[in-house]
Amino acid sequence: MEMLPRISRAQSMDVLSSQSNLTGYKAVIDGAANYGRGMPMLMTAAGRINPAKVFVMGAGVAGLQAIATARRMGAIVSATDVRMAAKEEVESLGAAFVMVEPDEGDTGQTAGGYAKEMSEDYKRRQAELVAGHIRDQDIVITTALIPGRPAPVLVNDDMVASMKLGSVIVDIAAEQGGNCTQTKPGEKHTTDNGVTILAELNLPSQLAADTSALYARNLLNFIELMVDKDEKKIAIDWEDEIIVGTCLTRDGKVVHPALVPAEGASAAPAEEADEAGGDDDTPSELGV
Ligand code: NAI
Repeated sequence: MEMLPRISRAQSMDVLSSQSNLTGYKAVIDGAANYGRGMPMLMTAAGRINPAKVFVMGAGVAGLQAIATARRMGAIVSATDVRMAAKEEVESLGAAFVMVEPDEGDTGQTAGGYAKEMSEDYKRRQAELVAGHIRDQDIVITTALIPGRPAPVLVNDDMVASMKLGSVIVDIAAEQGGNCTQTKPGEKHTTDNGVTILAELNLPSQLAADTSALYARNLLNFIELMVDKDEKKIAIDWEDEIIVGTCLTRDGKVVHPALVPAEGASAAPAEEADEAGGDDDTPSELGV
């Protein structure tokens, strides 16, 4: 199911999206629960409570849901991503987009729509920008992933040291090593300067009823693709892009382009792209 192509027609079967969506929501709930203050601005007779500032790093499926959730809770939200396409999505959710100018002619993404490893110069400029922004933030949600590689480091020790007492980092990239140098995957800890870092693993399992229901719906939609309802028979269209992307073996042979050995790889255009630098939706992007 993880190898399902990320195309519009496959969205209803997309398990990565359905699980990431709820992960983004849960990250904000956990961040708010560990932040010893309120999220929205409150005007009370006893005075004003300022809204929390939430910074979402990585505006993919989880990040966009985190933005929407934090906005609904009344926070002031900003977000960053390397993909230029994310700007419009972030802004349409009412968050400010924080981004360095990309290298000339670079969209920050592969042909498959995923983030790619950025140049050293870009990373340096991104770190400078983030360092200036993060010290004012109350809750930082990090979600950045590059398929097939360890999670990029976006929050370094100096940035954590610059953050305010009581602020919270929720690192949902912890399973891939984390986006923060001080993340301890699977643990929650507080730094010397009072920043709480959450690095839960398998967040979808904490909303099991909903994530299981969505997962089941994903599977049903996938199976329905392979059934002729009138004839009440299995009917697989082997040319269908979704079937080609997910079929691993057929007639006793390994057939998936990401898995066939290089010698017999006539039906493996993805491997050529991989050799050419992986600038496509290649096997390495799929972590295979
Ligand atoms: P992901 O889980 O692989 O990565 C999360 C986010 O981190 C991405 O937005 C990525 O650009 C960002 N990121 C990576 N390195 C970064 C860095 N150094 N600094 C800041 N941000 C960084 O991504 P996800 O959520 O799986 O989405 C990947 C793409 O696929 C997105 O463009 C999404 O819109 C698209 N998509 C398309 C679907 C479709 O059916 N058309 C379905 C689901 C996703």
